[in-house]
Amino acid sequence: MRVDIVTIFPAFFDVLDVSLIGKARDRGLLDVRVHDLRDAAHDRHRTVDDTPYGGGAGMVMKPEPWGETLDAVLGEDAVLIVPSPAGERFTQRVARELADERQIVFACGRYEGIDQRVVDHYAARGRVRLMSLGDYVLNGGEVAAMAMIEAVARLVPGVVGNPESLVEESHEIGLLEYPIYTKPASWRGHEVPPVLLSGNHGAVERWRREQSFERTRRLRPDLLPEDLRGES
Ligand code: ADE
Repeated sequence: MRVDIVTIFPAFFDVLDVSLIGKARDRGLLDVRVHDLRDAAHDRHRTVDDTPYGGGAGMVMKPEPWGETLDAVLGEDAVLIVPSPAGERFTQRVARELADERQIVFACGRYEGIDQRVVDHYAARGRVRLMSLGDYVLNGGEVAAMAMIEAVARLVPGVVGNPESLVEESHEIGLLEYPIYTKPASWRGHEVPPVLLSGNHGAVERWRREQSFERTRRLRPDLLPEDLRGES
C-alpha cells in the first residue's frame, strides 16, 4: 500500500520510522511518502495561507499549493483523505475499507482549514473523504492522519505478525475487548480472575464474552442494540 501525506509539518511524521509501521516500511509492505506543501508555495515567504473571503477569524489555506502538490501525488485510483472535524466519523469499518486501497493520500490542513474548492475539485475528479476522528478539535490534520495511518496499516496483510490478534480486538466484533492479565497472579492485592487460571477453555471463552458485553454496556452502550443496553 502506498500512503502519501501532504503537510506543512513533515517532521510530525518522523515517528513513522519506528515500531510496527517502520518495520512494515522496511519490509516493503508500506510505501509512505511525506510531502512538504510549502515546496509548492513559490513566493519568497513560501505562503500557504490567506485571510478568509467574507471575513472572520483565522487564516485559510490557499488552493494553489494544494492543487500543484496533489496533482503530482494523486495516482489514478487513489483515495484522498482530508482530516477534518467536519468530516464523517473514522471507525474500524472505515479502517477496513481503506486497508484495501492501493494508494491513500492525506491532505493535512492547518489554520481554519483548506479552501473548499480543493475538496470540490478533487471530488469531481476522483474519490475524496473528509474524515473526523471524533467530536473534538485538533490544531490540524497531522495527528488525525497519524492515527488513521496506524489504524489502517495494521490491517494490511503482513503488517501485524499474528493476524489472529486482530480478530478479537475492541470494535472488530462490535463490542469492547474483555480485560486481559498476565503474571503474576496476584499484584498489590489485586487477583487475576480465577476462571483464567482454571484451564477450562469453555469457561474462559464464556467469561470473556460476558466481560466484553458488560464493559460495552457500561462504557459504550451506544454500540449495542437498544434492547440490550439495560438501564442507566
Ligand atoms: N482536524 C482537526 N480536528 C480534527 C478531528 N477531530 N478529526 C480529524 N481531523 C481534525
